[in-house]
Amino acid sequence: VIAPSRCEPGCLFFDVLLSEQDPLLVRFYEAYRHRSDFEVHLQTQHARTWTDECLPVVDSASIQMPESTSDHGGTHLHDRKVVVFGATGRIGREMVKRLAEDLRCKEVRAVSRQPESAAGLHLQAFEPSVQVLPFDDLEAVCREATDAFIVAPASDDALSWHEQVADALRAAKVEHVVKVSVIGARSPASIPPPGRFPSLHWAGEEALRSAGLKTTVIRPNIFMQHFEMGTGVYTAGDDRFYLPIGDAGVAFLDCRDIAATGHALLLSPSATAFHGGCFDLTGPEALTGPQIAAALSAVRGATVVHVDGIAAFEARCALLGKPDWPKAVYSEAAAGWFSALSTASFEAVVGRRPRSFAAWADDRASFFSATK
Ligand SMILES: NC(=O)c1ccc[n+]([C@@H]2O[C@H](COP(=O)([O-])OP(=O)(O)OC[C@H]3O[C@@H](n4cnc5c(N)ncnc54)[C@H](OP(=O)(O)O)[C@@H]3O)[C@@H](O)[C@H]2O)c1
Repeated sequence: VIAPSRCEPGCLFFDVLLSEQDPLLVRFYEAYRHRSDFEVHLQTQHARTWTDECLPVVDSASIQMPESTSDHGGTHLHDRKVVVFGATGRIGREMVKRLAEDLRCKEVRAVSRQPESAAGLHLQAFEPSVQVLPFDDLEAVCREATDAFIVAPASDDALSWHEQVADALRAAKVEHVVKVSVIGARSPASIPPPGRFPSLHWAGEEALRSAGLKTTVIRPNIFMQHFEMGTGVYTAGDDRFYLPIGDAGVAFLDCRDIAATGHALLLSPSATAFHGGCFDLTGPEALTGPQIAAALSAVRGATVVHVDGIAAFEARCALLGKPDWPKAVYSEAAAGWFSALSTASFEAVVGRRPRSFAAWADDRASFFSATK
């Protein structure tokens, strides 16, 4: 009875609780948008089967209704159709998975420029609630959508990209947009002026806001995933990493925590206080190179060395044939741009601390311990 009940449009959640004290006591814990939705539930085939076939063997049964009859904002839920831009990426994949498992979300539109790519096909495994749709048909992607989660390319055309997406979202009357921006995003008129990525994301934020969309902005710090993004920082199984950050601490963030934030912002009634605002999001601690080395050594079970300095990073990138542009970001890190902590909003929205570097590295133990 659980699965079909959870699929009823008026059902917010449906759980069966077993008592630890009394093995014969079973509670059904259910919530509906309105009392009338509960009446509809009682008339469904699965509920009637329960009543007709199971209830006769129950010693005694009763229904307890809550004191309050207000709908607790429930009309907002269970009918959400969420568009996810950047769905095949690191953050997007995690977001699609979360939404697909969330009964409050009726439909997930995972947007990709190539729905038939391996990454697109991977998301199709979450059908039927997930559809993978092509980026080049924005009108179809946004039609009747209620919410959008945006992971945008931080490329030189970021402004026109956001304008194009904002037009489609506005035409579809999308109610709420959550955009992943970057820490330090601010107006070019600010002193000091923003660097390249904060500047591009600021333009994107402004495009969404000026289109009149209710936009909530997450401004994340530099990702832990830099260690596995093929940037020249680290190669699987290596005994050293190349990170020119000097003595600065860096509050690396697990980018899966961005998806956790976006998920809560879109679907959790308790997060509505944050709607329309912006907040920074960092990891829970600012670690120096030696502290990162200690965390990776613990995971690897063998010493991992921190190699500092721009020249060493450039040489490493040259050896691997990788572009060395991330050195500009690491220079900002060395200047302390990514040292400050900002986790309060995350904790309020998600209800836990962001994942630590050690916990993230532990999750990736096979990557760090790989045989070279
Ligand atoms: N790296 C960091 O430390 C850091 C820190 C703060 C903020 N950020 C921001 O986080 C975002 C990156 O997130 P991520 O790592 O999850 O991304 P990602 O793994 O690089 O994936 C992004 C996805 O976006 C899609 N995409 C790329 N260019 C596109 C375009 N022109 N139009 C439409 N879709 C496009 C791609 O999917 P398809 O190929 O399937 O279309 C790709 O899978 C960027 O905006 C970046 O500035 C990064």
